[in-house]
Amino acid sequence: MVKEGEKNSGGAADEWKEFLWNPRTHQFLGRTASSWGLILLFYLIFYISLAGMFVLTMYIMLLTLDDYKPTYQDRLATPGMMIQPKGDSLEIVYSIKDTESWDLYVQALDAFLAPYNNSQQVMNNDVCPPDQYFVQEDSGKVRNNPKRSCQFNRTMLEDCSGLTDRYYGYRDGKPCILLKLNRVIGMLPGKDGMSPYVTCGAKAKDRDKMGELMFYPPNGTFNLMYFPYYGKKAQVNYTQPLVAVKFINITLDTDVNVECKINSNTIRSHSDRDKFAGRVAFKLRINSD
Ligand SMILES: *[C@@H]1O[C@H](CO)[C@@H](O)[C@H](O)[C@H]1NC(C)=O
Ligand SMILES: *[C@@H]1O[C@H](CO)[C@@H](O)[C@H](O)[C@H]1NC(C)=O
Ligand SMILES: *[C@@H]1O[C@H](CO)[C@@H](O)[C@H](O)[C@H]1NC(C)=O
Ligand SMILES: *[C@@H]1O[C@H](CO)[C@@H](O)[C@H](O)[C@H]1NC(C)=O
Ligand SMILES: *[C@@H]1O[C@H](CO)[C@@H](O)[C@H](O)[C@H]1NC(C)=O
Repeated sequence: MVKEGEKNSGGAADEWKEFLWNPRTHQFLGRTASSWGLILLFYLIFYISLAGMFVLTMYIMLLTLDDYKPTYQDRLATPGMMIQPKGDSLEIVYSIKDTESWDLYVQALDAFLAPYNNSQQVMNNDVCPPDQYFVQEDSGKVRNNPKRSCQFNRTMLEDCSGLTDRYYGYRDGKPCILLKLNRVIGMLPGKDGMSPYVTCGAKAKDRDKMGELMFYPPNGTFNLMYFPYYGKKAQVNYTQPLVAVKFINITLDTDVNVECKINSNTIRSHSDRDKFAGRVAFKLRINSD
């Protein structure tokens, strides 16, 4: 019995050796050199075609991408709103008597508004007919690029331009806050010639504290001529329209929570998906000493 086993295992070892290299048939691992060659050739061609297909599909995909438009853009029903100056949080807190506490806000506004200087705007942009869209579509395959943009002059912000009052009202406890709508390519924010406009309010208990507001441009409108926006690459000199709100009788030494929102006949200000869309809330606190 034991001998049988030995013989068997010896046979298996021989078989294994013969499988590895069979000197009679010149087979390696059960195949002849030409058989191996054919297999290698097959896989070589197979993988080269696979790589070729990959490169081809990538190439076709890249051809269909448009440099000027995002292929996919989340269809925003309502764009977000933001304020300037903005700190780490949406809070404007300072003391009138402490120059340093508001100087940072003034500097931030100066820097932000530099590109809005009339001289800059006249150099870069056009005077457009107001209250209508500035449409510059491509005609079929022919690009209408680069696209022009409309002037938004710094002087249009009047008391909040930093030109008539270089402290933007901060020194007098009547601060200006700038509001902008986030850019959305192709957005048409109003119809029938009605430009969207901003309104601001305070929570019930803060309503009296907020006091009267002044808006620049008048009525707090984002004129239709600044839309649609065609994207950074197509519309290189685009200047985002602004609305400035000046708090001319805000109660001092108390927190005032303000919320500003966009009003339009095409964009819903209360999106189901995002209850902060089209609005921005911030805290103001101006201390008298
Ligand atoms: C914009 O105007 C302000 C005030 O007149 C001036 O201080 C600033 O240097 C100007 N900036 C540019 C970029 O023209
Ligand atoms: C902007 O200001 C310049 C010069 O101050 C003026 O010529 C131009 O008409 C103004 N543009 C708009 C749109 O008001
Ligand atoms: C952008 O502004 C520059 C001047 O700063 C001007 O030469 C150029 O024509 C403008 N381009 C467009 C598309 O408005
Ligand atoms: C502001 O709104 C009032 C009433 O809604 C309107 O009569 C007036 O013409 C508007 N002013 C501007 C500059 O749009
Ligand atoms: C400013 O607000 C106070 C109450 O906070 C009020 O008594 C006063 O009449 C207001 N002044 C103006 C000019 O609206």
